[in-house]
Amino acid sequence: MTEKHQELLEEARRLLTDADTERDVEEVRVRFLGRKGEVAALFKQVPQLPPEKRPEAGRAANELKQQLTTMVEQAAEEVAASRKQESARRPDPTLPGIRPPRGSIHPIVQVMDELVDIFRELGFEAVSGPEVETDWHNFEALNIPPDHPARDEWDTFYVTDRLLLRPQTSPCQVRVMEKRKPPLRIVAPGRCFRRDTEDPTHFSMFHQIEGLMVDEEVNFGDLKAVLHMSLRRLFHQDLEVRFEPDYFPFTEPSAQLHCTCVNCGGEGCRTCSYSGWIELLGCGMVDPNVFKAVGYDTERWTGFAFGMGIDRIAMLKYGIPDGRLFFQGDVRFLRQF
Ligand code: PHE
Repeated sequence: MTEKHQELLEEARRLLTDADTERDVEEVRVRFLGRKGEVAALFKQVPQLPPEKRPEAGRAANELKQQLTTMVEQAAEEVAASRKQESARRPDPTLPGIRPPRGSIHPIVQVMDELVDIFRELGFEAVSGPEVETDWHNFEALNIPPDHPARDEWDTFYVTDRLLLRPQTSPCQVRVMEKRKPPLRIVAPGRCFRRDTEDPTHFSMFHQIEGLMVDEEVNFGDLKAVLHMSLRRLFHQDLEVRFEPDYFPFTEPSAQLHCTCVNCGGEGCRTCSYSGWIELLGCGMVDPNVFKAVGYDTERWTGFAFGMGIDRIAMLKYGIPDGRLFFQGDVRFLRQF
């Protein structure tokens, strides 16, 4: 190999080491191996040499061509590979973004909000009360004296002798009436607790919404109109309601409201135990003893109250056979609402 060949190889190696792009490599290839390149020039010189030197010169030029070709090919591969790596590292702005997981409103809260909206349109204001209640607000002011057997129905968890986890939202009635004078229209949604053994329709933690209206000359017809209208709105159905006599210490008369089955429309199905009717809520006219406990004039004011279980309504509305699903925190279930 001649000095000239050495120089060419060195020069090509230097240029190829600096080559960053395929275009740089191509320029080197053209310069050395192109039709008018360095190697072609060497071949062109061969016929001008004395005949005995020609074979050797030709062979050397061929060898140089081989070496240069290999170098250029290698350099081209390296440049391509590093460009691939580069583009893998560079963020691709055309890719879709990563969607952050988004929660949703719990089905029970959705039904609660819907009820509050419906009653708001009828002039009822939403209020809330504490989940840890006093014996006075939950029992005594609601006409349930100590040791009265009616206490059993609202047996609950006690924090102290006088403080308990509320088993109903009815104490909210007392709290509002203690603070305000009639006329009043309020609803109080919230969490309640009972000493119930859990099954598909009983939970130790559940939800109620309480309603209370106090004014001059409020009667049972008003109660019926308010409940009938709001239940039709809630279930989006022309359902009928009926009242069955019942007993609550804080209302007189008291009733259990039934509505035509929201599943079968009254034909009879499993949801309504083939009766066509569903027990939905307790209600009645406020007992004068409750008004006395909060200092209202029982001659002037009358009122009605009702309390309904929100969880049961959500089960009916969404066709959920086991209400415990609401509280197990399984997002596969909750995501559906
Ligand atoms: N608080 C009662 C219950 O939990 C329901 C009710 C509320 C009944 C208001 C009458 C009036 O069963």
